[in-house]
Amino acid sequence: MFLFVALFVIPCVGQTAFAVDSSYVAAVYEHKVILNPEPRVPLSRRDALQHMQKNLDIYEEQAALAAQQGAQILVFPEDGIHGFNYTRSSISGYLETIPDPQEERWNPCAEPDRYSNTEVLQRLSCIARRYNLYLVANMADLQPCPMKTEPSSLCPPDKHWQFNTNVVFSSDGLLVARYHKHNLYFEEAFNTPPQAEVITFDTPFAGRFGLIVCFDILFHNPTITLVKRGVRQLIFPTAWMNQLPLLDTIQFQRAFSLGANVTLLAANIRDDRLIMTGSGIYTPDSATYHHAMRGDPEEGRLLVARVPVLDPLWVGQGGATEERMSLGETTSSVAADSSYCHRGSCADSRPPASTDPSPHPTFTSSMMYDPFNFVLLDETEDELRVCDGTFCCRLQYKWKSQGQRKELYALGAFAGTHTVNGRYALQVCAVVRCADSEASSCGQEVEEAESKMDFVLEGIFETRYVHPSVLASRLVLEQPEKLDKTADGRVAMKHSNMTGGLVTACLYGRMYHLDNK
Ligand SMILES: *[C@@H]1O[C@H](CO)[C@@H](O)[C@H](O)[C@H]1NC(C)=O
Ligand SMILES: *[C@@H]1O[C@H](CO)[C@@H](O)[C@H](O)[C@H]1NC(C)=O
Ligand SMILES: *[C@@H]1O[C@H](CO)[C@@H](O)[C@H](O)[C@H]1NC(C)=O
Repeated sequence: MFLFVALFVIPCVGQTAFAVDSSYVAAVYEHKVILNPEPRVPLSRRDALQHMQKNLDIYEEQAALAAQQGAQILVFPEDGIHGFNYTRSSISGYLETIPDPQEERWNPCAEPDRYSNTEVLQRLSCIARRYNLYLVANMADLQPCPMKTEPSSLCPPDKHWQFNTNVVFSSDGLLVARYHKHNLYFEEAFNTPPQAEVITFDTPFAGRFGLIVCFDILFHNPTITLVKRGVRQLIFPTAWMNQLPLLDTIQFQRAFSLGANVTLLAANIRDDRLIMTGSGIYTPDSATYHHAMRGDPEEGRLLVARVPVLDPLWVGQGGATEERMSLGETTSSVAADSSYCHRGSCADSRPPASTDPSPHPTFTSSMMYDPFNFVLLDETEDELRVCDGTFCCRLQYKWKSQGQRKELYALGAFAGTHTVNGRYALQVCAVVRCADSEASSCGQEVEEAESKMDFVLEGIFETRYVHPSVLASRLVLEQPEKLDKTADGRVAMKHSNMTGGLVTACLYGRMYHLDNK
């Protein structure tokens, strides 16, 4: 593992033209959270509030700065008010009972006396109201058990629920949405909600937004459920530990927005010890992001960008159908749900063997704890293929610099279920720079590279959810020059004229339909 500590903001890709009336200004804040140094020791409500008000003071300053830049919506990260590593009991001083905005209208700033023990909700509501912007924050919710509709047999032994929760306030302070995180990541203090919640809210400036938290982004519920319902603007508070070469924050944020053809407003925590940094405002055509690098001061970062409205109803393009929202118009006629085709029928549409380049020796090396099959890129230009079972990846490449290339690269394929720190089924094609000159180092974490190539990376996937990314040296994103998807599940990513050395080029396919098999 390594730490990133420097920062930069790079509006890295071309601006799309859009009319003034179909765009809005979004802001995300990467927050260096002030932590409770002893999270496992219970403390009084008064002490917990004193701690949280320190983080909320920073939220207030940033809301003022965002408002000055015209922000209409501002997103804060997961765990940004209370911190991490509480136990179920030690977090108790931090909990508030958040009323369900689908059941009642409550403006905590305007009506502070309706509920006691809601100081955090009141403060957030007043910040939204004072700075006249929609505000999304993450906090800890305490709900009695059973809640309205569920059977009491689901109740935790201590007869209440504790949820990792996003709250949203409108620009006059009204609590408009509450979402309980579904996919927890080692969070002892919290429960998984008894039913996966699919929560959206509507704004006057950009239509509908959907809510997810951190690890949720890798799973069908609620993320893909939202996308299938036509929600094209997702809000993503996170506390994400970076993991190269495939799941660095900005790399996957960019990849998800492109793969699902949505806007993603991503706010991460900044904490060097926990390897957390990387936030951004992504649309399918643009990215405004920040990733700290080693040696940077450990501090927060506000990002503000004007982006186009993607909500099809708001834009007035007519109803959002599931097919329109799916990846790639050409694929919508195929494919039930999350798969294009099944094993067997897919095999028939693979590239004919006669077009395959001569076989290269393959080797297996672990990448992100998964056994990838790799081939080395050892020519000046070449065409390669590598398979994992019946899943195959192809690469055409040509190095840009003709001089002595010292860096080793490999093309890898993996089809299977990732099982370390979470269980999820994948089909992945990736070109990676290896950590040193040994093949066994391929798949390890690498942050810098000098070599540039023009390439086409392609695979035939049994899912429509394939997330593409090109990550260049020192955590710089490049927008893939061209993405092609065809009805047989083929995804091809073409890229040339790189501005930085290549660290990873990846097609990350999520096989949601196999997660529970
Ligand atoms: C939380 O716990 C993990 C695992 O025990 C540890 O690595 C991490 O440093 C802790 N974080 C904080 C903020 O104490
Ligand atoms: C993404 O959405 C836009 C509409 O905002 C649509 O024109 C485009 O075809 C979609 N792209 C893909 C790959 O589905
Ligand atoms: C890449 O650079 C070459 C040479 O400068 C140029 O001819 C070509 O049009 C560029 N391609 C793209 C996609 O920008």
